[in-house]
Amino acid sequence: MKKFVLVLTLLFSGLAGAAGGGIENDHIDIDLSDQASLQSGAKLFNNYCLGCHNMQYQRYERSFKDLGIPTELGQEYLQFTGEKVSDHIKSAIPAENAAKWFGAPPPDLTLVARVRGADWLYTYLRTFYADDSKTFGVNNKRFPDVGMPHVLQELQGTPRETYEQRMVDGEMKEVYVGIKTDGTGELSPEEYDEAMSDLVHYLVYVGEPGRLKLETTGKWVLAFIVILFIFVYLLKKEYWRDVH
Ligand code: HEC
Repeated sequence: MKKFVLVLTLLFSGLAGAAGGGIENDHIDIDLSDQASLQSGAKLFNNYCLGCHNMQYQRYERSFKDLGIPTELGQEYLQFTGEKVSDHIKSAIPAENAAKWFGAPPPDLTLVARVRGADWLYTYLRTFYADDSKTFGVNNKRFPDVGMPHVLQELQGTPRETYEQRMVDGEMKEVYVGIKTDGTGELSPEEYDEAMSDLVHYLVYVGEPGRLKLETTGKWVLAFIVILFIFVYLLKKEYWRDVH
């Protein structure tokens, strides 16, 4: 029984650790009609994430087609290991090695946006921070003790936790107020946030590629209804003209 309780406690504390970490998610509005943002997200993913993570349910050609990327351009700039466009988007490193190197296997990311949600991902990608006690010298606010290195450091610079003295329940306390970069990255903080927004948009699209069509079709349907309404209204006026 004792063992059982121990296992349960470990399990729940593990889950809480993976999901929580005591910070709120930052919100992101998702608009899949922005093709440039999706293209930039795909580029970021293939450059910075595909080294370790698969997207094994998505084929290159599907991404290219849906995002309006011509096949030759896609092959030249978004495929690196000589696969066919009809191949699934797979990482070159074998899962067992990755698990050994990082302490945990990098999970497939095809459905991660559905599992975690866009806000969670947007927060996770923006809350890595320097932590010398960790193997890779980084930790994460959203996912404490994560096994993933901060692969976007060259873009963001070195991120650090920042604290401020604030009044909490009548007492002055050091309160965590966010992550600040040291400015050594290629992108400004605003540009980094935008790049992460693009990346999350791409992950949301891959999690549900049909939604892209639905959203575009939805807009046409709405436009159609508005136009129809105008005609119906004019028609109604015409019918009732003699009655009034
Ligand atoms: C060097 C290898 C490596 C690269 C490159 C990498 N990751 Fe990871 N990632 C990992 C590992 C390992 C884990 C598992 C960590 C754990 O469970 O502790 C992980 C976990 C994650 C998770 C958490 C998944 C979950 O639901 O638990 C997300 C999201 C993620 N990575 C996104 C990304 C994105 C987006 C990129 C590209 C910007 C990226 N990763 C690049 C190794 C990598």
